[in-house]
Amino acid sequence: MKVMVIGGGGREHTIIKKLRESDKIEKLYALPGNGGIAADAECVNIGAKDLDGICNFAKENGIDFAVVAPDDPLVLGAVDRLEEIGVKCFGPRACAAEIEGSKVFSKNLMKKYGIPTATYEVFEDAAAALEYVKTCPIPVVVKADGLALGKGVIIAEKREDAVKAIHDIMEDKVFGASGNRIVIEEFLTGPEVSVLAFTDGTTLVPMVSSMDHKRALDDDKGLNTGGMGTIAPNPYYTADVADRCMKEIFIPTIEAMKAEGREFRGCLYFGLMITEAGPKVIEYNCRFGDPETQVVLPLLETDLFEIMQAVQSGTLANVDVKFSDGAACCVVLASNGYPQKYDTGFEMTIPEMESSVFVAGAKLDDAGVLRTSGGRVLGVTATAPTLAEAVEKAYADADTIKFDNKYCRRDIGKRALACGK
Ligand code: AMP
Ligand code: GLY
Repeated sequence: MKVMVIGGGGREHTIIKKLRESDKIEKLYALPGNGGIAADAECVNIGAKDLDGICNFAKENGIDFAVVAPDDPLVLGAVDRLEEIGVKCFGPRACAAEIEGSKVFSKNLMKKYGIPTATYEVFEDAAAALEYVKTCPIPVVVKADGLALGKGVIIAEKREDAVKAIHDIMEDKVFGASGNRIVIEEFLTGPEVSVLAFTDGTTLVPMVSSMDHKRALDDDKGLNTGGMGTIAPNPYYTADVADRCMKEIFIPTIEAMKAEGREFRGCLYFGLMITEAGPKVIEYNCRFGDPETQVVLPLLETDLFEIMQAVQSGTLANVDVKFSDGAACCVVLASNGYPQKYDTGFEMTIPEMESSVFVAGAKLDDAGVLRTSGGRVLGVTATAPTLAEAVEKAYADADTIKFDNKYCRRDIGKRALACGK
């Protein structure tokens, strides 16, 4: 089979490395891929949002199966377009990807079907939103409706922060049309858990749970980033919590999507908060998380391509999806200054190591030398029987990698190890 993976970050590199283990795949392409992915798949310089380019490439090269990994092409309808030309896909159609593409849609879905989430109001004009935040409980959370490169959520600790967020999003349009509507919601507290799940619309199989570390600096300080590291499994996700999530959140969500005529096939990401009142949904994503994928897939024992085909054909119930009992830790090596200004173009030295190195932001120069090209550069994932060992190993290996301006958090896994469960 000829398979193409759309996207070009650390998540896509992880998916590609896992797909390479399948003997059903004869040729793997990445569109656009990156300088590191080039070692594991043929990279083709077509952007993830260039749906015409992607479809033409698929036709001209006889692609049998496509894995659409990032949110943008999914929300834009990449799967719909590829299916029209007979390419089988792993990923939801646009109508189902709206679960991530519109927070107003997902909040209204949860309300309609009684799925636990923060209470909220939707606003279409700034004046009404500004009036609301004069008296609502504080802190409060302001969210742009549409995709905003992971930056559309503002936790307002003070009333004036909420006022500023409303001005920025609805009037100054810092996230463009994504800010035409906003959700203002209750601030929840509790440990956060990410659960990715395979679903064919009817059967849902949760993967091993994980924990992201979103802030740039140690002890969850500094700006929000795309994710500075992950661990799996997440110790706050106990068997009891998992059971409640399955009954109160996961199954009701796929049934709700089906009832709305938006059957979801692909990887559904549940961003959860374990509050005192039980698990609640913070957000849905219509795709694999990044960098959650970098710890979840290395623990997967079943052939990923076999699972993806079953998701596509609606036969997931027939696959025995297995994860190892061990743990994984991914330390992200970033460019100093990320998520704001940073320099790139530095040569990297990556020695042989036991950990897996997933490349997020690197390019090959004309001489074939791998150089930094992004804010998040590499993810170093170690697996081990226990989380403590995985954390130690990931840092030991990450510290052997050299490039100028290298920066990483030193406390990935600390909170999980302190959980004591
Ligand atoms: P998102 O961009 O939707 O992933 O949100 C970013 C982060 O904001 C989440 O990981 C949470 O830490 C936080 N967050 C979002 N919604 C809430 C909420 N209702 N209460 C508390 N924290 C929240
Ligand atoms: N790690 C969070 C996300 O993928 O959205």
